[in-house]
Amino acid sequence: MLSKVFCAIAAPVVLFAQLAHGGLVTPTAPFKGYTVFDVEWQLPIDPKNAASKSVTVTGTIQEAVAKMDAAYPGWNETFLSTISRNQPGTSLSDNPKRDHYVCNPDDGEKDALYRGIAEGITYLRRIGDGDVSPPQNNPHGCGRISCTNYSGIWWCNNNNFEKQVTWQEIGDSAYFLAYQCGIWNDITWLTAGEEFFKDKWSVYVTATAC
Ligand SMILES: *[C@@H]1O[C@H](CO)[C@@H](O)[C@H](O)[C@H]1NC(C)=O
Ligand SMILES: *[C@@H]1O[C@H](CO)[C@@H](O)[C@H](O)[C@H]1NC(C)=O
Repeated sequence: MLSKVFCAIAAPVVLFAQLAHGGLVTPTAPFKGYTVFDVEWQLPIDPKNAASKSVTVTGTIQEAVAKMDAAYPGWNETFLSTISRNQPGTSLSDNPKRDHYVCNPDDGEKDALYRGIAEGITYLRRIGDGDVSPPQNNPHGCGRISCTNYSGIWWCNNNNFEKQVTWQEIGDSAYFLAYQCGIWNDITWLTAGEEFFKDKWSVYVTATAC
């Protein structure tokens, strides 16, 4: 237990040091042999209007939302007010598309804060509603979908071709991992894990500098 507490405190300290030295952190792929690509979001200008025109913004969902909010003041609030779902859209315990999953693949070295992951999941539930074009990933590419408080959601494509999935699948997978792999360290909930799907892509919940 002591070592978990230590890790939870130590990991953010290391990441803070990187931030202080480097300014903006350029993400590196979480796995060898993968390249990072910018996640693209085609977001509706008016989240309340299903027929709204969309604009394309890149980055994590937090960066994308910040860009939309800067261009269209109040956008974030409207967007969040149109979340229609607070439950996963698929059966998580028995997802037929799952190949396998691993909890704490980094032996606790890269535990994310549960709350940071939950924030990303909240956005993904809104985005899964249908007025945002689905996520595409390059061959052997990893995209960082959400990052807040040193806590990230990545998705990686292990195919030799471009892969398209749905935001709902990614959000549900992050939820499954966050829940299934949660650890209480006497201070807060931490979580880390990776879920692999039969059609060769994965979702990875991990500590990462934002
Ligand atoms: C959007 O609003 C939520 C809720 O008020 C807030 O927690 C979050 O930081 C906001 N995001 C951005 C990018 O402004
Ligand atoms: C980030 O983590 C700190 C420490 O656990 C917490 O106080 C804060 O509320 C977190 N912020 C978010 C957006 O989760």
